[in-house]
Amino acid sequence: MILIDGKKAAAELRAELKEEVAELKSKHNKVPGLTVILIGDLTPSQIYVRNKEKSANEVGLKSEVIKYPDSIEEKTVLEKIQELNSDETVSGILVQLPLPKHIDKQKVIEAIHPSKDVDGFHPMNVGNLSSGYESSIPCTPLGCYLLIKKIEPNLSGKKAVVVGRSNLNGKPMTQLLLKENCTVTITHSKTKDLKAECLEADIIVAAVGIPELVRGDWVKKDAIVIDVGINKTDNGIVGDVHFDEVSKNAKALTPVPGGVGPMTIACLLKNTIDCFKRSQI
Ligand code: GUN
Repeated sequence: MILIDGKKAAAELRAELKEEVAELKSKHNKVPGLTVILIGDLTPSQIYVRNKEKSANEVGLKSEVIKYPDSIEEKTVLEKIQELNSDETVSGILVQLPLPKHIDKQKVIEAIHPSKDVDGFHPMNVGNLSSGYESSIPCTPLGCYLLIKKIEPNLSGKKAVVVGRSNLNGKPMTQLLLKENCTVTITHSKTKDLKAECLEADIIVAAVGIPELVRGDWVKKDAIVIDVGINKTDNGIVGDVHFDEVSKNAKALTPVPGGVGPMTIACLLKNTIDCFKRSQI
């Protein structure tokens, strides 16, 4: 069984991106900039944002974090996004989710100019991805996709099962696998026989947020299994896949932690650089 080392893959990607930033700097005399807006004091969000800033600095991006208290008015956030949209030194804007209840998430997502939408959440980018056009691609599914391609460069004709249909993961993951000519099944909480669906799969991407849902006898021998889950349990953090059982069957499997997680942030840096490059044309 191949244990897919997301930490190593992310470090390799960051090294490539660092070189690319240096090249862009010598060509354009400026570097891509990432601005993250963090609202409130949720600990997981603070940790994510700190890691994003650290990684951005490591590859040589200009990085800025704007922090607001929980009580900030929606209007202030929307005005700040407008200001960042017209700031030439800002290539990418990310508003860390979740947001306080009084702020309309969709309004915030749609306020970010699609050309600076490093999350790929704007409807314009969602549409472009589903039509097969160039777009920003949500960071977590992009990270999963790059890990899968490392194991299996030719995905054409493979059967893929995506467990979970969120806008953040399941839906964009499906689009990426479709683009690679996989036959994709999206499954979710109302799917009748999830085990039977998974048993058909050459590739399983589990992104539902249910601890250890995917069991050993759900997985065909030699399947590639990607675990997007980060679930807090009494036994610590576990994924959506039962690691010990599935590792006996799968050809390749991502661990939690150390699998998809590190790739997500590296892909955010990649998206920021890609937004910068498109803005220079
Ligand atoms: N919160 C958890 N994951 C994400 C993400 O990918 N993007 C944003 N903006 N917020 C998040």
